Amino acid sequence: MRGSPGRFFVAFGVVALFGSGPLASVGEAQVKRTKIEEERLVPPYSLPDPLKMEDGSPVADAAAWREKRRPELMRIFEREVYGRTPIGRPEAMRFELIEEKADALDGKATRLRVAVLFAGKADGPKMELLVYLPNAVKGKAPMFLGLNFQGNHATSRETDIPVPTHWMRAPKGSPNRASEATRGAAAGRWQYEYAIDHGYGVATACYNEVEPDENGRAADGVRSLAPPRGESDWGAIGGWAWALSRALDYLETHPRVDARRVVLIGHSRLGKTSLWAGAQDERFAVVVSNDSGAGGAALSKRIFGETVENLTTAFPHWFCPRFKTYADHEEKLPVDQHQLIALVAPRPVLIHSATEDLWADPKGEFLAALAADPVYRLLGAGGIAHRTQPKPGEYSHGTVGYFLRPGKHDVTLEDWKSYVAFADAHLPK
Ligand code: GCU
Repeated sequence: MRGSPGRFFVAFGVVALFGSGPLASVGEAQVKRTKIEEERLVPPYSLPDPLKMEDGSPVADAAAWREKRRPELMRIFEREVYGRTPIGRPEAMRFELIEEKADALDGKATRLRVAVLFAGKADGPKMELLVYLPNAVKGKAPMFLGLNFQGNHATSRETDIPVPTHWMRAPKGSPNRASEATRGAAAGRWQYEYAIDHGYGVATACYNEVEPDENGRAADGVRSLAPPRGESDWGAIGGWAWALSRALDYLETHPRVDARRVVLIGHSRLGKTSLWAGAQDERFAVVVSNDSGAGGAALSKRIFGETVENLTTAFPHWFCPRFKTYADHEEKLPVDQHQLIALVAPRPVLIHSATEDLWADPKGEFLAALAADPVYRLLGAGGIAHRTQPKPGEYSHGTVGYFLRPGKHDVTLEDWKSYVAFADAHLPK
C-alpha cells in the first residue's frame, strides 16, 4: 500500500525539484516532483501561525483561542481537508449486547461484543465493538479506544471471536472478506493483556464495517446517513471519526467504564482519523496518533515522503473533494497539521513515529508537534518537553508527547508501553 514514483519521475526528479514550481517543464514534458526522502532535498516552506487569526490579528489569550481561533481553524479543516461532519448522535441509535464473557484472557478480563446500530436497525449502518474490561479494577476503568484494520477477530488471540462477514479491504485479487486465516493476525498491534495488566480496558471495531475503505463506497457505510455531495462534505476519515464518537457514546453507558478517561488511539490512516476525531470531540481525554504521516500528524507543507498529491490520488475518498486542490500546491493550504494537533489542546496528545517509516515523515511529525506547542503554552497546559527530535526509544512525554520507535511502520508492544506510560502520567485522576 505504499506509493512509489514512476521511473520517469525518478529520472527527471532533480530537474523538477529545482524548477520554478512543483511542476517544471523538461522539453515538452511536464514532470512531477519526485518522492523526497532525504533531508537535504526538502524545499523551503513556511507554516501558518496557530496563534494568528486569518485576518492577521494575534490570538492574545486563552479566551481568544477558545472563542475565536479554535472555531476558525475547525471551519478551515472542515472546508479544505476532511469535510464537515453533518450529523451528531442519531436519536434512533441503539446498542445491543451480543455476548458477555466474564473470564476472557485467562480470567483477567471481561469481554463484551456489542452491536452499535447507528440508525437503530440491523439492516442499516452498524459496527460491532469488541470490549475488554480489566477484572482487577473494581471501580470504573480508563480505556483505550481505536479502530482496527482487519476485523475484531484479527486483533485477539482468543479463538472464539467470530470471523466477521462484512466487506474487508484486501490486496488486489484477494477476496474482500475475512477468514480464519487472519485470526490473531493483528494481535501484536492490540496488546490487550499489557493494557489489562496495567488497569486499562480496550475497545475496538473494524473500520471497514463503519465504511468500506474503497473509493466510491460512501453509500455503504455511515456516510449514507448524510450522503456527501459538495466539495467540503465529509470524507471517509470523517465517517470513521464520527463512529469513534458513537463508540464513546456506548462507553458512557457502561458502569465499569470511566468515560472521562478514554484514550483515543489510531495507527496510520486510522491515526489521521484519531486526530480528526479528537479535534472534533472534546470528550476524548487523550489522543494518540501512531505513524499517521501525511494528512495526519506530518506537516503537509514540508515536502518529504507522502504528499497531498500521493494521498488524494491513491485515496481520494479519505478527504473532502476540495483537498485535491492542494495536490502539488501545499504552499496554498491555509492550514497545516500542527494546527490539527493544536485543536486537541489543552488535552494531552501523543505523536508516535517509527525510524524506518520515512513515507510518514517522522521528522515532519515531530516538527508538527513542536509547532503545536505555543497553543498549549498559551492555555497554560504545559507543552512539549524536547525542542529537537528525541532520539529513537526516548520518551518525550510532555502534554504534547512524542516517541520515535526504532523500526518499521507498525504498532508494537513498545508503542503500547509508551501509550500506557503517557496515559498514566496525563489522564485526569
Ligand atoms: C498508505 C498511505 C498512508 C497511510 C497508510 C496506512 O501508506 O499512503 O497515508 O497512512 O497507507 O494507513 O497504512
